[in-house]
This record gives sequence, structure tokens and C-alpha cells, in this order.
Amino acid sequence: MSTAISPTAYNYKVVRQFAIMTVVWGILGMGLGVFIASQLVWPELNLGLEWTTFGRLRPLHTNLVIFAFGGCALFGTSYYVVQRTCQTRLISDSLASFTFWGWQAVILGAIITLPLGYTTTKEYAELEWPLAILLAIVWVTYGIVFFGTITKRKTKHIYVGNWFYGAFIVVTAMLHIVNHASLPVSFFKSYSAYAGATDAMIQWWYGHNAVGFFLTTGFLGMMYYFVPKQAERPIYSYRLSIVHFWALITLYIWAGPHHLHYTALPDWAQSLGMAMSIILLAPSWGGMINGMMTLSGAWHKLRTDPILRFLVVSLAFYGMSTFEGPMMAIKTVNALSHYTDWTIGHVHAGALGWVAMISIGAMYHMIPKVYGQKQMYSTGLINVHFWLATIGTVLYIASMWVNGITQGLMWRAINDDGTLTYSFVEALQASHPGFIVRALGGAIFASGMLFMAYNVFRTVRASNPVEAEAASKIAVVGAH
Ligand code: HEM
Ligand code: HEM
Repeated sequence: MSTAISPTAYNYKVVRQFAIMTVVWGILGMGLGVFIASQLVWPELNLGLEWTTFGRLRPLHTNLVIFAFGGCALFGTSYYVVQRTCQTRLISDSLASFTFWGWQAVILGAIITLPLGYTTTKEYAELEWPLAILLAIVWVTYGIVFFGTITKRKTKHIYVGNWFYGAFIVVTAMLHIVNHASLPVSFFKSYSAYAGATDAMIQWWYGHNAVGFFLTTGFLGMMYYFVPKQAERPIYSYRLSIVHFWALITLYIWAGPHHLHYTALPDWAQSLGMAMSIILLAPSWGGMINGMMTLSGAWHKLRTDPILRFLVVSLAFYGMSTFEGPMMAIKTVNALSHYTDWTIGHVHAGALGWVAMISIGAMYHMIPKVYGQKQMYSTGLINVHFWLATIGTVLYIASMWVNGITQGLMWRAINDDGTLTYSFVEALQASHPGFIVRALGGAIFASGMLFMAYNVFRTVRASNPVEAEAASKIAVVGAH
């Protein structure tokens, strides 16, 4: 691949690197998801080894899908979008390259340390302090590259997609640094700087905003660029996008306590979290509507364009999970849903339906462009992938709804004399069919990623370095 640096060309090399790793980590992270889902069906798959138990592999799954798969998709697309909408090359090739290799190093660190049992025990923030510091350095560098590029833009205004990416970068840095404050006692052991209910609140302020800013705001940045581009229509309402942006970022930050209902957290904080979560429905749906309505006059394209289908169905799942979330935040509903598979179903409605599907759609749009190709090798295979992803997601979330509500109702059932009607094991037995359907749905979703890998492989192989270099030339007219 040619690495000649021209000030009149975009840096697509780093975009290509992140795009390829999105597919690789997607396969590994989702494959691991299928494996742990199978462990819940057939516990023998724990293999009798401490490193391969569900408890050790579950955090590896979450780290791989959120930070490796989702993270690479966000890095790659944000570098692509910021360059094209600012009509300028990234501010520094070496810093951008550092973010790529640094990010892969953090992921490799996770793959080694988590199965070995090194963990802070904080969900989505498990990595011990040396890796957490490396992550912080990479992240700050990412911020420098992204905002530095914006400062040298050739366009007058900053496209709204960049606002979302920008907020995601700034807030993720803040969350990570505050939640990871800790006292190291050895190379792979540290204690949190906070204690008791304060520790729990800071952790779920982090956890919820990891959802709000990493899994939502960043992907909305993606949505604001790739939906209009693929539909070949301007965004439905630029004004709505600005209202959407400010409402979303000011509200999300308050909703964390809904993860701590009925705990030692003061009651007023729980109620505040509940109220803010319900209000959050409005900006979430504002964003969804803005994306969906962009297709006005272009709905017919859905018949022939599976990439657009990925993008639109992801918005539908986004709307669904952001309706479900505020409902689950209501204390009386949460009394039923908390600790059950309903939560897991909600998570994957967002994770598979929204995060994975929008990323996959964006990759199918972007990969041919950065390799100098007109389109992906096979549109038919994209269509196959679309159906596998949709069917897989539906099986996953429907089985978890059934399981979750069954579990919640069985746990709370009491006899006239006040004793429990069902033992825990009985609820577990009742969940078994749902676990099988979830593993099947997950396997169907993950198999779609293999079709994607083949399609990407053929697209990349068809490209030659000259075409790829020509594609990265900055066309001053015609904008993004
Ligand atoms: C083939 C696809 C996938 C399968 C089969 C799968 C399976 C699983 C399983 C079995 C669990 C543990 C559930 C439990 O503890 O009862 C889990 C947890 C989780 N997964 Fe996945 N997963 C998949 C894809 C994804 C993706 C793409 C994401 C994110 C982008 C994701 C995010 C998560 C999160 C955040 C949790 C933790 C949920 C919680 O603690 O409430 N998963 N997954
Ligand atoms: C308006 C938007 C949303 C609200 C108000 C909301 C609310 C909630 C609530 C109430 C829970 C259950 C907490 C518990 O009982 O422990 C939850 C869990 C979760 N949600 Fe959402 N949700 C929203 C959107 C999303 C989206 C779009 C995603 C994914 C992309 C997502 C990912 C998660 C995850 C990963 C968890 C599990 C956290 C854990 O316990 O490990 N949420 N959410």
C-alpha cells in the first residue's frame, strides 16, 4: 500500500486499519458472546479451567464488543467523517497511527489480563491501572487528532456529526479518568479511590454514560453522516439535530442512578435518575426521527439497497431500546426487570440492533470508498448479512424478554404463608429454553459477520494501491 503523504489527500490509511480491525474484533467478540451464551446452556463448556469460566470470559466479551469492535468502528468512521466534512487531512499522521496501535495494544492487554483474573471488578472498567493509563493516553491523543483536524478545517461550519463525535470523545475521557481514580498496590492490583455508595454511584455514572456517550453519542455521529450519504438526501432537519445534540448531552449525564434502584443510594438520587431517564426518551426519539425522516422521498431505495436497510433498521432498534430503557428506569418496573434477563435483552437490543447494525452499515458504505472501489464486492452477500443480523437480533431479544419476565415473576411469587413459591433453581430451569434460543440467535448474528469478512476481503483484494491513493485525493468542490 502506498504511504506517500500528500497535503491534498486524506489520511485513509488509518481509516482502513480501523475498518479492518472492526470486522476482526466483531467476529472475535461476537464469537465469544456465542461461546458464553452456550456456556449458560451447557455449563460443561466452562471446560473446568479457571481461565475459561463464564465469569472470566464475560468481561472479555463486553470489552471486545464495546471497546474493540465498537471502538474501532468509532475511531475509523470519525477519522473519515472529520476529514471529509472539514475537507482537510488529519492534523498528524503519526499521532493518528499511535492511536491505532495504542488502541490495539490496550485490547491485547485485555485479552491477556481478563482471563487471568486481573480486574478492578468495575463493569466496563475492568482493566487494571497500567492498561487504564495507556487507554487514557491513547484517548487524549485521539482528542488532539480529532479537534486539531477541526481547527484546520477548510469549511466554515462544523458539521453536526462532528459535534456528536466530539462530545463522545470529551465525555469518555472524563468518565474514564474519574472512575479509574485508584490506589495501585501492585502491578496488577489497585483499589478504587471511592468507597461504599459513593463508589457505586461513580461507577454507574460511568457505566450509564459509557452507554450514553460511547454506545450512543458516538454512533449518532456516525448516523448523522452515513444515513444522509447512503440515502443521498440532506439530513431531515438541521435545527432538530442541534436541539437533539444539546438535549441529549445535558440529560444523559443525570440518569446513572437508575442502575442503583433499591440500593443504599439515597432515595432522592434514585428518583432523580428515574425522572431524568424518562425525560431522555424525548431527545432519543428526536434523533431517531431525524434519521428516519431523512429517508423522506427515498424510501423506495430500501427495496434495493441493503446498506440503507442496515442503517434504517438500526435506527428502529435504537428507538425501541430507548423506549424500553426509560420504562425500565421506572422504579416499579425495575423491581421486576432488575437482575433478570430482561436487562440482557435490553442491552442487546441496543448493542446488536443499534450499535452493531449501524456500524456494519457504515462499514459497507465506507470500506469501498477508502479502497478506491465503487461498491462492495457483493450486494447479495450484504443482503444475506442483513437478514442474518435482523433475525439473530430478534431471536436474542425476544428470548430474553420471555426469560426476564418469567424470572422476575417467579422470584417474587410468594405463598400464603409468606414463603417463596419457587426456588432459584426452578427459575433457572424455566430459563433454559430461552438460553438455547439466545445462543441460536447470537450464532445467526455472528455468522453474518463471516459473510461480511469474506465480502470485505474480496473488496480489498480487488483494490490496488494506485486506486486507493487516488480515492483519497481531496476534492475541494462537491464537499463531503
Ligand atoms: C453474537 C452476538 C452476541 C452474543 C451471542 C452475546 C452474548 C452475551 C451473553 C451470553 C452475555 C452475558 C449475559 C448474562 O450475564 O446473562 C452478554 C453480555 C453483554 N453483551 Fe453480548 N453478545 C453478543 C453481542 C454483543 C455486542 C455486539 C455488544 C455491544 C456492542 C454486546 C454487549 C454486551 C454487554 C454490554 C453485556 C453485559 C450486559 C449486562 O451486564 O447487563 N454483546 N452478551
Ligand atoms: C433513553 C435511553 C435509555 C435508558 C433510559 C436506559 C435505561 C436502562 C435501565 C433502566 C437499565 C437497567 C438497569 C438495571 O436494572 O440494572 C439499563 C441497562 C442497560 N442499558 Fe439501557 N437505557 C437506554 C438506552 C440504552 C441503549 C441505546 C443501550 C445500548 C446501546 C443501552 C445499554 C444498556 C446496558 C449495557 C445496560 C446494562 C448495564 C449493566 O447492568 O451492566 N441502553 N438501561
